[in-house]
Amino acid sequence: MLKEIALHRSVRHFLSREIAPEVLTDILQAATHASTVGNMQLYSIIVTIDSRVRAELSVGSLDESAAMEAPVLLIFCADVHRFSKWCRQRDTKPEYENLMWYAHATADALRAAENAALQAESYGLGICFIDTVLRSADRLVELLDLPQGVLPTAVLALGHPAEEPPLSDRLPMEAIVHYDRYNRITSAEIDELWAERETSTQTMELLNRYGVENLARIFTEYRYPAAENLNSSKRYLATLREQGFLDDKE
Ligand SMILES: Cc1cc2nc3c(=O)[nH]c(=O)nc-3n(C[C@H](O)[C@H](O)[C@H](O)COP(=O)(O)O)c2cc1C
Repeated sequence: MLKEIALHRSVRHFLSREIAPEVLTDILQAATHASTVGNMQLYSIIVTIDSRVRAELSVGSLDESAAMEAPVLLIFCADVHRFSKWCRQRDTKPEYENLMWYAHATADALRAAENAALQAESYGLGICFIDTVLRSADRLVELLDLPQGVLPTAVLALGHPAEEPPLSDRLPMEAIVHYDRYNRITSAEIDELWAERETSTQTMELLNRYGVENLARIFTEYRYPAAENLNSSKRYLATLREQGFLDDKE
């Protein structure tokens, strides 16, 4: 396995040191080398240090330190705008502002983001993705002046690490990989897979802190609660429609 992959950990505290311009350029180049659907490169990257963007990404965040401290944020947007414009300029009608192409463009953007993350880590930089990007999509459309056919899909905080967090655990490969067909997991296997996490010292500390009886409840009641999920989902759907990605716009 590549060293960068094996040693990956999200970094949430950064030194105030800038990233050298040539290093940042190389990270951006690495992003643009990712595979994309039909080599259409249906994404754009916005490089920003804008404090309004940082503040927006911090709203409702479980840990806002990465968005606030990173010397630079890369915002990866699904983007069918540029390609559609080229098609129209060549007198042909693009039909890319719909859900199918939103899915393609999002996947393109995420592949580029992961390339950037790995390249950054190969320079010894720390990275952290920021999940509030989806909840804040409507505000980011305004702040970044995104045209129709463009929607933010991932934010990568980058910088020189001010910490070396421990590696996070992962479910064993057997839980993730299926051969030929999907293997439905049994209740006993679920118990076995989560046993170590559920009894770790870190989990015991969390259970005490939140006053709940099991680890799953921390996710469903505190980290990603139902009401917030449903509310964000409605907002995101409205933004998808606003940005022209749903067939039913007119
Ligand atoms: C899409 C995405 C969004 C994330 N958002 C946040 C975030 O907002 N704040 C944060 O501290 N970590 C965030 N993370 C980091 C995850 O918590 C982290 O990847 C996970 O706990 C596994 O740890 P590791 O990356 O150190 O291996 C995010 C990761 C992903 C992939």
